[in-house]
Amino acid sequence: MNALGRCCRYRLQAFLGTCATSKGGTNRVFIRSQCYKAVNRRAVTELKNLRRDPPKESSGVGNGRTLAQALQARIRATGPITVATYMREVLLNPAAGYYSTKENVFGTTGDFITAPEIGQIFGELVAVWCINELQKFNYDGHIQLIELGPGKGTLMQDVLRVFERFGLSKDRVSAHLVEMSSNLQRLQAERLCHGTVHRTAADQVEPYLQEGTTSSGINLRWYTDIVEVPKGFSIILANEFFDALPVHVFCKEPKEGGALWKEILVDINADQKEPSFRFIQSNKATPYSVVFGKRFDSKDLLLKDRTRVEVSFETEQIAQNIAKRVDEHGGFGLIIDYGHEGDKTDTLRVGVNFKSDLIQ
Ligand SMILES: C[S@@+](CC[C@H](N)C(=O)[O-])C[C@H]1O[C@@H](n2cnc3c(N)ncnc32)[C@H](O)[C@@H]1O
Repeated sequence: MNALGRCCRYRLQAFLGTCATSKGGTNRVFIRSQCYKAVNRRAVTELKNLRRDPPKESSGVGNGRTLAQALQARIRATGPITVATYMREVLLNPAAGYYSTKENVFGTTGDFITAPEIGQIFGELVAVWCINELQKFNYDGHIQLIELGPGKGTLMQDVLRVFERFGLSKDRVSAHLVEMSSNLQRLQAERLCHGTVHRTAADQVEPYLQEGTTSSGINLRWYTDIVEVPKGFSIILANEFFDALPVHVFCKEPKEGGALWKEILVDINADQKEPSFRFIQSNKATPYSVVFGKRFDSKDLLLKDRTRVEVSFETEQIAQNIAKRVDEHGGFGLIIDYGHEGDKTDTLRVGVNFKSDLIQ
């Protein structure tokens, strides 16, 4: 990684089962002075906290210090960081993250284009599909339309327009946008309600960040996490959202009588003058390699002969929330991503001006 990736995106199909639990630890495997159970418990707590841990602070960026310099200082102080932490900072650091600060991300003059930005027919077809699905439910109550990672708000705008043509207007529908970048929250508000929003930051009772109304009166609310969206019958949309979420990377090291999964970390590349980073293989167990390594062993057939795996814990948590929400309160969703069948091993890419390259 000679420079900070501007847009780390990945293609991941290795979705390895349900959330880790602290059960199943064995106290026979010792790692340094800590027994497996202790590491496992700490790992599970860290995993649970991870999703609530977006980079809220600028992490030392500013006053002439770049994100690369801030990350180097952090690595010097506390050691190499996970690939997921690196991705999260690069994409979402409030002071310097790609989605948080770059004005021109999507579109023909940006770094990449997504289907809603190519033409309105995409959003219109998604809306028609939703209406068709809705008819199967024989449901005439209130509908929450939730979009994860709504980008410029184009898909939401196109879907709401078609909904209204089919009679799903302000009395039946509310829109809920889950977006972590305040820069994109602002763009979405400009598109959907001419930028007129009320902030609720001071009101701790309400979990949403801001609220607005479309020109036809549909209520819009913004959140940073799907767990904050009220429970209720929901239609959930996500286009190219999951492939932007951070991944942990693991590689398999053969050992006598089995294999050991080691986590790949990001370290400083000391050979370069400019702030620069490199991948290294952790020489000891990390909380993630303990939890995931155990799961990989039990999914041997799924992994086949793969020696390198990318796993997004955040993807798993969000997918579980969606499944629980739909199960308990009704609804359905459409998640669109483009990828492979789980056979690729190294899918992290940096993309600039429509060119993508491996991060190495
Ligand atoms: C590749 S873009 C896709 C944008 C849009 N869906 C489209 O198709 O044009 C990913 C979107 O997810 C948002 N995002 C990334 N990580 C997120 C997270 N952890 N929580 C919420 N939104 C996130 C980004 O800010 C951006 O809006």
